[in-house]
Parts: sequence; C-alpha cells; structure tokens
Amino acid sequence: MGSKIIGLGMYVPPKTMTNEDLEKMVETSDSWIVERTGIKLRRIAERGSATSDLCLEASRLALADAGVSPSEIDIIIVATCTPDMPLPSTACFLQKKIGAGRAFALDLNAACAGFLYALSTADAMIRIGRGKKALVVGGEILSSVTDFTDRNTCILFGDGAGAVVLSECPDGEGVLSCHLYSDGNLWELIYAPGCGTVNPCGPEIVEKRMHAIRLAGNEVFKQAVTKMTEVSLEALQRNGVSVADINLLVPHQANMRIISAVGKRLGVPDEKVFVNLERFGNTSAASVPIALTEARERGRMAKGDLVLLTAFGAGLTWGSALLRM
Ligand code: UT7
Repeated sequence: MGSKIIGLGMYVPPKTMTNEDLEKMVETSDSWIVERTGIKLRRIAERGSATSDLCLEASRLALADAGVSPSEIDIIIVATCTPDMPLPSTACFLQKKIGAGRAFALDLNAACAGFLYALSTADAMIRIGRGKKALVVGGEILSSVTDFTDRNTCILFGDGAGAVVLSECPDGEGVLSCHLYSDGNLWELIYAPGCGTVNPCGPEIVEKRMHAIRLAGNEVFKQAVTKMTEVSLEALQRNGVSVADINLLVPHQANMRIISAVGKRLGVPDEKVFVNLERFGNTSAASVPIALTEARERGRMAKGDLVLLTAFGAGLTWGSALLRM
C-alpha cells in the first residue's frame, strides 16, 4: 500500500504587506527586494489569530476538495515552526476546531522543509497501517517571529497555510518516494534564539529581538541551491525517471534566484517550474502546499502528472518527494 493526495487547499490572511510598506519601515527599496528575491507582496495575519486558524481554513478546503469528512481522518500532522503555543500541539487545536474526533494529531518542526517531512511521515504511517486517511498541513504565522527592524529578514517572510488529504492507494501511485536530510552542524545559518529552553522568554529576550529569525542569507542561499538540486536528482534516480518526464517542479518559495538556479541545474525549463512567491513571500512550511494548490487551480497540474517537490530550511533540513497526481 502507498498513499496519494486526494484533496488540496490553501488559505492566506487578507491583510497584505507590500514592498512599499516595507520601504517605510526599514532602509530598503521595492527594486532591491524584487531584484534580489522576486517578492512583491506578502500576507500578514491579524494579531491574535492562531496558526491553527489558518490551518483550519486550508484544511476545510482540502477536505471539501477530497469529498472527505473530518470524522474520516485518522492522522493529522501540522508542520510548523510557529505553533499556537509550546503545548499542546497546533495539530490538537486543529483537530478540535475541525472536529476530526478519531484522528491522532501531532506537530512536526522542520522549518521550511516541514511540509515534506510531514508528507513523508504521513505516507509512512499509512504504509504501515496506522491509518487510511491523513490531513497533512503546513501553516505559519512567521510575522510573529519576524524582526521588522531587520531589513535582512523582514522582507522575506509571509503568513499562510496549505493542506492536503492523503489517502491509502495501491503501491506505485501517489507518493512515489520521499527523501529527507538534515545537518544540525549548520543550525546557526537560520535560527530564532529566544523563547525556548536555552533563552526562556522574558522582557529582555523580546527587547533584544531574540524571539525573531536570524539568517545568514548568502550562505543559506548557496546551501539551498546545492541541496535542493542534489535531493531532486535523487528522487528522479530512485524512480528511474528523467528530468524530461517531470510535468511540474514545485519548489519551496524562498527566493526567485534560488528557484531559477535549481531549475537551471536540474535542466527543468521555466515553464515547468511553479512560482508564486511574488504574492506570498516565504511562508516556510506552508509554501509547498500553497504552491501545489495554486498550481492545480491554475491548470498547471493534471491527473496523472509527475510532480517533483523540493524544499530547504532551518536545521538545516531539506528534502524532495516525487508524486504521481
Ligand atoms: O526558506 C529557507 C531559508 N531562507 C532562504 O532560503 C533565504 C536565502 N537567502 C536569500 O534569499 C538571500 O541571501 C537574501 C535575499 C536574504 C539576501 O540576498 P543577497 O543577494 O544574498 O544579499 P546579501 O545578504 O549578500 O546583501 C547584499 C547587500 C548588503 O549590503 P553591502 O554589505 O553589500 O553593502 C546588504 O546589507 O544588500 C544589503 N541588503 C539590503 N539592501 C536593501 C540586505 N538586505 C537589504 C534590503 N534592502 N532589504
């Protein structure tokens, strides 16, 4: 047995933050941001809304798309690095809000690679018989861990959620393979030092903006290009397919230059690479399921297509998955 995606959904909050808005907050310009990242706009959640609220909206749409009721869900996995609270898990809040009474629910944090880690985990659970249907969600309110006085990071991130419903299927359909990697030695390239056990939350931590994401942009950039290319090739090799067989590449939406470099190294033509980061920025774990949902909505992906996913994030973490839609 394997698993396949039978429903897709996404949600982004209505409030937008443009590059022009950021020009008023830090020393930056629309032209710099567009040229260096490709981002024009990001969505920002209202203060007081929870990551699980965004996940709920995306999940409702994914379940409706699948024609599956919440009571049929056995497994809920939420990939997030911005949970509602340290405990309980955001997945438990989502379970309550959506009414998936019989599911077991857990969070998973692999930062921007989180959705691929969650997809792989849910797929493996279905394969070993832990359940037949899973709700796999990537959701983030990154604006809650963004330092809006730091121009190196505040231009990059946005809020949102994407969800898929995975269902048991015969082997050789759906999720064909997943490939995951981590390198904790390089944790200092992207991290948020405050409000964990090492630097417990307090006024001083927040004052020093230690709750916010710090990024060695240039080094992350190089690592992201190398690792996403390598792990994408691994997915193709494992399945005995060539780049020409791929109908669509759906990469993590961090930076247009990273996406272009990965596409170029793999030899995937631009028209087979899905990009929507100009409107949402980097939404971390939400980026891949949001992109997948939009790709199908825009007619870029059809039943039977071979779709390659790849992502890279803090940890470091990275991965790929090859899907037969
Ligand atoms: O989701 C996975 C994790 N994240 C990523 O994948 C992000 C990966 N990294 C990147 O996307 C890029 O490295 C950035 C967009 C973050 C930065 O682009 P870059 O081309 O690597 O620029 P840089 O950091 O090398 O900075 C170049 C210059 C610097 O000025 P000097 O030192 O050359 O005078 C920066 O201070 O640009 C300056 N700079 C800015 N200027 C205007 C940095 N941020 C800004 C800004 N506006 N917002």
